[in-house]
Amino acid sequence: FLHKLVLGIETSCDDTAAAVVDDTGNVLGEAIHSQTEVHLKAGGIIPPVAQQLHKENIQRIVEDALSASRISPSELSAVATTIKPGLALSLGVGLSFSLQLVNQLKKPFIPIHHMEAHALTIRLTHKVEFPFIVLLISGGHCLLALVQGVSDFLLLGKSLDIAPGDMLDKVARRLSLIKHPECSTMSGGRAIEHLAKQGNRWLFDINPPMQNAKNCDFSFTGLQHITDKIIMQKEREEGVEKGQILSSAADIAAAVQHITACHLAKRTHRAILFCKQKNLLSQTNAVLVVSGGVASNLYIRRALEIVANATQCTLLCPPPRLCTDNGIMIAWNGIERLRAGLGILHDVEGIRYEPK
Ligand code: KG4
Ligand code: ZN
Repeated sequence: FLHKLVLGIETSCDDTAAAVVDDTGNVLGEAIHSQTEVHLKAGGIIPPVAQQLHKENIQRIVEDALSASRISPSELSAVATTIKPGLALSLGVGLSFSLQLVNQLKKPFIPIHHMEAHALTIRLTHKVEFPFIVLLISGGHCLLALVQGVSDFLLLGKSLDIAPGDMLDKVARRLSLIKHPECSTMSGGRAIEHLAKQGNRWLFDINPPMQNAKNCDFSFTGLQHITDKIIMQKEREEGVEKGQILSSAADIAAAVQHITACHLAKRTHRAILFCKQKNLLSQTNAVLVVSGGVASNLYIRRALEIVANATQCTLLCPPPRLCTDNGIMIAWNGIERLRAGLGILHDVEGIRYEPK
Protein backbone atom coordinates (compact mmCIF):
# COMPACT_ATOMS: atom_id res chain seq x y z
CA PHE A 1 0.00 0.00 0.00
CA LEU A 2 1.71 3.13 -1.24
CA HIS A 3 1.20 6.59 0.12
CA LYS A 4 1.61 9.65 -2.02
CA LEU A 5 4.71 11.60 -1.00
CA VAL A 6 5.39 15.24 -1.80
CA LEU A 7 8.57 17.25 -1.31
CA GLY A 8 7.70 20.88 -0.54
CA ILE A 9 10.15 23.75 -1.02
CA GLU A 10 9.70 27.28 0.30
CA THR A 11 11.93 30.32 -0.36
CA SER A 12 9.46 33.18 -0.75
CA CYS A 13 10.86 35.42 1.94
CA ASP A 14 13.59 34.84 4.50
CA ASP A 15 13.25 31.15 5.32
CA THR A 16 14.78 28.39 3.24
CA ALA A 17 12.58 25.42 4.05
CA ALA A 18 11.81 21.94 2.77
CA ALA A 19 9.74 18.98 3.95
CA VAL A 20 8.42 15.61 2.88
CA VAL A 21 4.78 14.96 3.74
CA ASP A 22 2.53 12.02 2.90
CA ASP A 23 -1.16 11.99 2.01
CA THR A 24 -2.24 11.15 5.56
CA GLY A 25 -0.52 14.29 6.84
CA ASN A 26 2.53 12.54 8.26
CA VAL A 27 5.61 14.72 8.20
CA LEU A 28 8.43 12.36 7.23
CA GLY A 29 11.21 14.90 7.24
CA GLU A 30 11.77 18.60 7.42
CA ALA A 31 14.54 21.17 7.47
CA ILE A 32 14.58 24.92 7.72
CA HIS A 33 17.18 27.66 7.66
CA SER A 34 16.05 31.01 9.01
CA GLN A 35 17.71 34.26 7.97
CA THR A 36 15.87 36.26 10.64
CA GLU A 37 18.96 37.08 12.66
CA VAL A 38 20.83 38.53 9.68
CA HIS A 39 17.85 40.67 8.65
CA LEU A 40 17.13 41.75 12.22
CA LYS A 41 20.65 43.14 12.47
CA ALA A 42 20.35 44.90 9.10
CA GLY A 43 17.07 46.50 10.21
CA GLY A 44 15.03 44.81 7.48
CA ILE A 45 15.24 42.35 4.62
CA ILE A 46 17.59 43.30 1.79
CA PRO A 47 16.43 41.18 -1.18
CA PRO A 48 19.85 40.43 -2.75
CA VAL A 49 21.12 39.35 0.68
CA ALA A 50 18.11 37.07 1.15
CA GLN A 51 18.68 35.62 -2.33
CA GLN A 52 22.33 34.91 -1.61
CA LEU A 53 21.48 33.15 1.67
CA HIS A 54 18.81 31.03 -0.07
CA LYS A 55 21.38 30.04 -2.70
CA GLU A 56 23.89 29.06 -0.03
CA ASN A 57 21.40 26.90 1.88
CA ILE A 58 18.83 25.40 -0.44
CA GLN A 59 20.75 22.31 -1.50
CA ARG A 60 21.60 21.35 2.07
CA ILE A 61 18.08 22.03 3.35
CA VAL A 62 16.44 19.90 0.66
CA GLU A 63 18.97 17.12 1.22
CA ASP A 64 18.39 17.28 4.98
CA ALA A 65 14.60 17.05 4.58
CA LEU A 66 14.95 14.12 2.18
CA SER A 67 17.43 12.20 4.31
CA ALA A 68 15.42 12.77 7.48
CA SER A 69 12.42 11.27 5.69
CA ARG A 70 14.40 8.11 4.86
CA ILE A 71 12.81 7.89 1.45
CA SER A 72 14.58 7.77 -1.86
CA PRO A 73 13.81 10.77 -4.11
CA SER A 74 12.52 8.27 -6.67
CA GLU A 75 9.60 7.50 -4.33
CA LEU A 76 8.30 11.07 -4.49
CA SER A 77 4.95 11.59 -6.21
CA ALA A 78 5.75 15.24 -6.94
CA VAL A 79 7.73 18.30 -5.94
CA ALA A 80 5.74 21.34 -4.81
CA THR A 81 7.32 24.78 -4.62
CA THR A 82 6.17 28.27 -3.74
CA ILE A 83 6.13 30.38 -6.90
CA LYS A 84 4.25 33.46 -5.55
CA PRO A 85 3.71 35.85 -3.85
CA GLY A 86 6.96 36.92 -2.24
CA LEU A 87 10.30 38.52 -2.99
CA ALA A 88 11.08 37.83 -6.65
CA LEU A 89 14.78 37.21 -5.98
CA SER A 90 14.02 34.78 -3.15
CA LEU A 91 11.27 32.93 -5.03
CA GLY A 92 13.60 32.52 -7.99
CA VAL A 93 16.09 30.47 -6.00
CA GLY A 94 13.47 27.90 -4.96
CA LEU A 95 11.92 27.80 -8.41
CA SER A 96 15.14 27.27 -10.37
CA PHE A 97 16.34 24.68 -7.88
CA SER A 98 13.00 22.83 -8.09
CA LEU A 99 12.85 22.87 -11.87
CA GLN A 100 16.32 21.39 -12.02
CA LEU A 101 15.31 18.75 -9.51
CA VAL A 102 12.08 17.68 -11.24
CA ASN A 103 13.86 17.57 -14.58
CA GLN A 104 16.49 15.33 -13.06
CA LEU A 105 14.03 13.09 -11.17
CA LYS A 106 11.38 13.17 -13.92
CA LYS A 107 8.67 14.00 -11.40
CA PRO A 108 5.58 16.20 -11.71
CA PHE A 109 5.87 19.77 -10.49
CA ILE A 110 3.19 21.55 -8.47
CA PRO A 111 3.49 25.35 -8.35
CA ILE A 112 2.23 26.65 -5.00
CA HIS A 113 0.64 29.94 -4.03
CA HIS A 114 2.14 30.80 -0.66
CA MET A 115 -1.14 32.13 0.77
CA GLU A 116 -3.07 29.05 -0.30
CA ALA A 117 -0.51 26.97 1.57
CA HIS A 118 -0.87 29.07 4.74
CA ALA A 119 -4.66 28.77 4.51
CA LEU A 120 -4.73 24.99 4.02
CA THR A 121 -2.21 24.17 6.77
CA ILE A 122 -5.01 23.76 9.32
CA ARG A 123 -6.29 20.73 7.38
CA LEU A 124 -3.00 18.97 8.09
CA THR A 125 -3.44 19.31 11.87
CA HIS A 126 -7.23 19.39 12.31
CA LYS A 127 -10.20 17.83 10.59
CA VAL A 128 -11.58 20.97 8.94
CA GLU A 129 -14.01 20.80 6.02
CA PHE A 130 -14.62 23.55 3.47
CA PRO A 131 -15.82 26.25 3.75
CA PHE A 132 -14.00 28.04 6.55
CA ILE A 133 -12.79 31.57 7.20
CA VAL A 134 -9.09 32.29 7.38
CA LEU A 135 -7.26 35.33 8.76
CA LEU A 136 -3.60 35.40 7.77
CA ILE A 137 -1.53 37.91 9.70
CA SER A 138 2.25 38.10 9.58
CA GLY A 139 5.10 40.40 8.67
CA GLY A 140 4.26 40.18 5.00
CA HIS A 141 0.61 39.08 4.95
CA CYS A 142 -2.72 40.45 5.96
CA LEU A 143 -5.80 38.92 4.45
CA LEU A 144 -9.21 37.57 5.28
CA ALA A 145 -10.68 34.94 2.99
CA LEU A 146 -13.44 32.40 2.76
CA VAL A 147 -11.82 29.10 1.79
CA GLN A 148 -14.36 27.16 -0.27
CA GLY A 149 -12.06 24.55 -1.75
CA VAL A 150 -8.39 23.64 -2.24
CA SER A 151 -7.95 26.45 -4.73
CA ASP A 152 -11.27 28.25 -4.33
CA PHE A 153 -10.86 31.39 -2.25
CA LEU A 154 -13.19 34.34 -1.81
CA LEU A 155 -11.05 37.29 -0.76
CA LEU A 156 -12.99 39.22 1.88
CA GLY A 157 -10.39 41.75 2.98
CA LYS A 158 -6.74 42.70 2.81
CA SER A 159 -4.42 45.37 4.11
CA LEU A 160 -4.51 48.53 2.04
CA ASP A 161 -0.95 49.29 3.10
CA ILE A 162 1.37 47.22 5.32
CA ALA A 163 0.86 43.99 7.26
CA PRO A 164 0.35 44.04 11.04
CA GLY A 165 3.65 42.24 11.76
CA ASP A 166 5.49 44.77 9.61
CA MET A 167 3.89 47.59 11.60
CA LEU A 168 4.77 45.95 14.93
CA ASP A 169 8.33 45.40 13.70
CA LYS A 170 8.61 49.08 12.73
CA VAL A 171 7.25 50.26 16.07
CA ALA A 172 9.62 47.91 17.90
CA ARG A 173 12.53 49.26 15.88
CA ARG A 174 11.48 52.85 16.58
CA LEU A 175 11.36 51.96 20.29
CA SER A 176 14.83 50.37 19.96
CA LEU A 177 13.53 47.25 21.68
CA ILE A 178 16.50 45.31 20.32
CA LYS A 179 18.52 47.18 22.96
CA HIS A 180 16.05 46.20 25.68
CA PRO A 181 17.67 43.55 27.91
CA GLU A 182 14.52 41.40 27.94
CA CYS A 183 13.79 41.59 24.20
CA SER A 184 17.12 41.60 22.40
CA THR A 185 16.60 38.27 20.65
CA MET A 186 12.89 38.63 19.94
CA SER A 187 11.15 39.58 16.70
CA GLY A 188 9.50 43.00 16.84
CA GLY A 189 6.06 41.52 17.36
CA ARG A 190 7.17 39.27 20.18
CA ALA A 191 9.03 42.10 21.86
CA ILE A 192 5.85 44.22 21.74
CA GLU A 193 3.81 41.35 23.23
CA HIS A 194 6.38 40.79 25.95
CA LEU A 195 6.63 44.47 26.99
CA ALA A 196 2.88 45.04 26.68
CA LYS A 197 2.35 42.73 29.67
CA GLN A 198 4.09 45.33 31.85
CA GLY A 199 2.30 48.30 30.29
CA ASN A 200 -0.95 50.21 30.60
CA ARG A 201 -2.89 50.15 27.36
CA TRP A 202 -5.18 53.03 28.33
CA LEU A 203 -2.63 55.85 28.65
CA PHE A 204 -2.93 56.91 25.01
CA ASP A 205 -6.05 57.78 23.14
CA ILE A 206 -5.78 56.04 19.76
CA ASN A 207 -8.74 55.29 17.51
CA PRO A 208 -8.82 51.94 15.71
CA PRO A 209 -8.22 52.41 11.95
CA MET A 210 -11.00 52.44 9.32
CA GLN A 211 -13.88 52.60 11.80
CA ASN A 212 -16.35 53.77 9.19
CA ALA A 213 -15.19 51.74 6.20
CA LYS A 214 -17.95 49.41 5.07
CA ASN A 215 -15.66 46.57 4.05
CA CYS A 216 -13.30 44.07 5.65
CA ASP A 217 -10.02 45.70 4.64
CA PHE A 218 -7.23 46.63 7.03
CA SER A 219 -4.79 49.49 7.41
CA PHE A 220 -1.77 49.81 9.68
CA THR A 221 0.33 52.76 8.50
CA GLY A 222 -1.95 55.26 10.26
CA LEU A 223 -1.42 53.45 13.56
CA GLN A 224 2.32 53.37 12.89
CA HIS A 225 2.42 57.13 12.33
CA ILE A 226 0.32 57.93 15.40
CA THR A 227 2.67 55.75 17.44
CA ASP A 228 5.68 57.54 15.93
CA LYS A 229 4.24 60.85 17.09
CA ILE A 230 3.57 59.51 20.58
CA ILE A 231 7.16 58.24 20.76
CA MET A 232 8.55 61.61 19.66
CA GLN A 233 6.45 63.40 22.27
CA LYS A 234 7.54 60.97 24.98
CA GLU A 235 11.19 61.42 24.00
CA ARG A 236 10.79 65.14 24.53
CA GLU A 237 8.91 64.70 27.81
CA GLU A 238 11.37 62.18 29.21
CA GLY A 239 14.38 64.02 27.82
CA VAL A 240 15.49 60.83 26.12
CA GLU A 241 17.42 60.76 22.85
CA LYS A 242 16.15 58.89 19.80
CA GLY A 243 17.49 55.34 19.97
CA GLN A 244 17.36 55.14 23.76
CA ILE A 245 14.76 53.13 25.67
CA LEU A 246 11.77 55.16 26.88
CA SER A 247 10.42 54.49 30.35
CA SER A 248 6.95 54.51 28.74
CA ALA A 249 7.95 51.89 26.13
CA ALA A 250 5.78 49.23 27.77
CA ASP A 251 2.72 51.50 27.83
CA ILE A 252 3.20 52.33 24.16
CA ALA A 253 3.62 48.65 23.32
CA ALA A 254 0.42 47.82 25.22
CA ALA A 255 -1.55 50.52 23.40
CA VAL A 256 -0.32 49.51 19.94
CA GLN A 257 -1.01 45.84 20.63
CA HIS A 258 -4.49 46.65 21.91
CA ILE A 259 -5.46 48.75 18.89
CA THR A 260 -4.03 46.12 16.55
CA ALA A 261 -6.11 43.43 18.27
CA CYS A 262 -9.27 45.60 18.13
CA HIS A 263 -8.81 46.34 14.44
CA LEU A 264 -8.18 42.70 13.52
CA ALA A 265 -11.13 41.56 15.63
CA LYS A 266 -13.57 44.11 14.22
CA ARG A 267 -12.79 43.37 10.58
CA THR A 268 -12.94 39.62 11.20
CA HIS A 269 -16.29 39.98 12.98
CA ARG A 270 -17.64 41.89 10.00
CA ALA A 271 -16.38 39.23 7.56
CA ILE A 272 -18.03 36.39 9.51
CA LEU A 273 -21.34 38.25 9.69
CA PHE A 274 -21.18 38.94 5.94
CA CYS A 275 -20.56 35.28 5.07
CA LYS A 276 -23.35 34.11 7.34
CA GLN A 277 -25.75 36.65 5.94
CA LYS A 278 -24.97 35.43 2.40
CA ASN A 279 -25.28 31.81 3.56
CA LEU A 280 -21.69 31.13 2.58
CA LEU A 281 -20.87 29.82 6.04
CA SER A 282 -22.63 27.56 8.53
CA GLN A 283 -24.80 29.55 10.95
CA THR A 284 -23.95 27.44 13.97
CA ASN A 285 -20.64 25.64 13.57
CA ALA A 286 -18.33 27.59 11.32
CA VAL A 287 -14.56 27.56 11.71
CA LEU A 288 -12.31 30.61 11.94
CA VAL A 289 -8.66 29.82 11.24
CA VAL A 290 -6.00 32.32 12.29
CA SER A 291 -2.45 31.83 11.11
CA GLY A 292 0.80 33.70 10.39
CA GLY A 293 3.50 34.93 12.76
CA VAL A 294 1.20 37.49 14.41
CA ALA A 295 -1.27 34.70 15.30
CA SER A 296 1.17 33.57 17.98
CA ASN A 297 0.32 36.76 19.91
CA LEU A 298 -1.90 35.62 22.78
CA TYR A 299 -3.51 39.02 23.34
CA ILE A 300 -4.57 39.18 19.69
CA ARG A 301 -5.69 35.59 19.85
CA ARG A 302 -7.91 36.31 22.83
CA ALA A 303 -9.56 39.17 20.95
CA LEU A 304 -10.29 36.81 18.07
CA GLU A 305 -11.59 34.20 20.50
CA ILE A 306 -14.16 36.72 21.68
CA VAL A 307 -15.23 37.28 18.06
CA ALA A 308 -15.45 33.53 17.47
CA ASN A 309 -17.57 33.01 20.59
CA ALA A 310 -19.90 35.86 19.69
CA THR A 311 -20.50 34.40 16.22
CA GLN A 312 -20.70 30.74 17.22
CA CYS A 313 -17.48 29.92 15.42
CA THR A 314 -14.66 27.66 16.51
CA LEU A 315 -11.29 29.39 16.52
CA LEU A 316 -8.44 27.18 15.30
CA CYS A 317 -4.76 28.05 14.99
CA PRO A 318 -2.05 25.79 13.59
CA PRO A 319 0.78 25.17 16.08
CA PRO A 320 3.32 28.05 16.07
CA ARG A 321 5.92 26.26 13.93
CA LEU A 322 3.29 25.80 11.21
CA CYS A 323 1.99 29.39 11.54
CA THR A 324 5.25 30.82 10.26
CA ASP A 325 6.81 30.02 6.90
CA ASN A 326 7.83 26.38 6.57
CA GLY A 327 8.25 23.58 4.05
CA ILE A 328 5.54 21.37 5.55
CA MET A 329 2.71 23.66 4.48
CA ILE A 330 4.04 23.71 0.92
CA ALA A 331 4.32 19.92 0.77
CA TRP A 332 0.83 19.58 2.28
CA ASN A 333 -0.58 22.00 -0.31
CA GLY A 334 1.03 19.72 -2.90
CA ILE A 335 -0.79 16.73 -1.36
CA GLU A 336 -4.11 18.64 -1.38
CA ARG A 337 -3.60 19.54 -5.03
CA LEU A 338 -2.61 15.97 -5.95
CA ARG A 339 -5.77 14.66 -4.29
CA ALA A 340 -7.93 17.26 -6.05
CA GLY A 341 -6.10 16.83 -9.37
CA LEU A 342 -5.37 20.55 -9.51
CA GLY A 343 -2.45 22.34 -11.14
CA ILE A 344 -0.06 19.43 -11.51
CA LEU A 345 2.51 20.02 -14.24
CA HIS A 346 3.63 16.72 -15.69
CA ASP A 347 6.12 17.94 -18.18
CA VAL A 348 8.50 20.70 -17.25
CA GLU A 349 11.38 19.05 -19.04
CA GLY A 350 13.71 21.63 -20.48
CA ILE A 351 11.95 24.51 -18.70
CA ARG A 352 14.45 26.58 -16.81
CA TYR A 353 14.21 29.61 -14.65
CA GLU A 354 17.26 31.74 -14.12
CA PRO A 355 16.86 34.44 -11.50
CA LYS A 356 18.57 37.72 -12.33
O1 KG4 B 1 4.87 34.33 9.47
P1 KG4 B 1 6.14 35.02 9.81
O2 KG4 B 1 7.22 34.26 10.51
O3 KG4 B 1 6.83 35.60 8.55
C1 KG4 B 1 6.21 36.37 7.59
O4 KG4 B 1 6.13 37.59 7.82
O5 KG4 B 1 5.78 35.80 6.57
O6 KG4 B 1 5.75 36.27 10.68
C2 KG4 B 1 6.71 37.12 11.20
C3 KG4 B 1 6.00 38.32 11.77
C4 KG4 B 1 6.96 39.40 12.23
O7 KG4 B 1 6.48 40.64 11.76
C5 KG4 B 1 6.88 39.30 13.73
O8 KG4 B 1 7.11 40.54 14.37
C6 KG4 B 1 5.48 38.83 13.95
O9 KG4 B 1 5.22 37.92 12.91
N1 KG4 B 1 5.33 38.16 15.25
C7 KG4 B 1 4.52 38.57 16.22
C8 KG4 B 1 4.73 37.71 17.32
N2 KG4 B 1 5.64 36.79 16.96
C9 KG4 B 1 6.00 37.07 15.69
N3 KG4 B 1 3.67 39.60 16.27
C10 KG4 B 1 2.98 39.77 17.40
N4 KG4 B 1 3.12 39.01 18.49
C11 KG4 B 1 3.97 37.96 18.51
N5 KG4 B 1 4.11 37.20 19.59
ZN1 ZN C 1 4.16 33.41 4.87
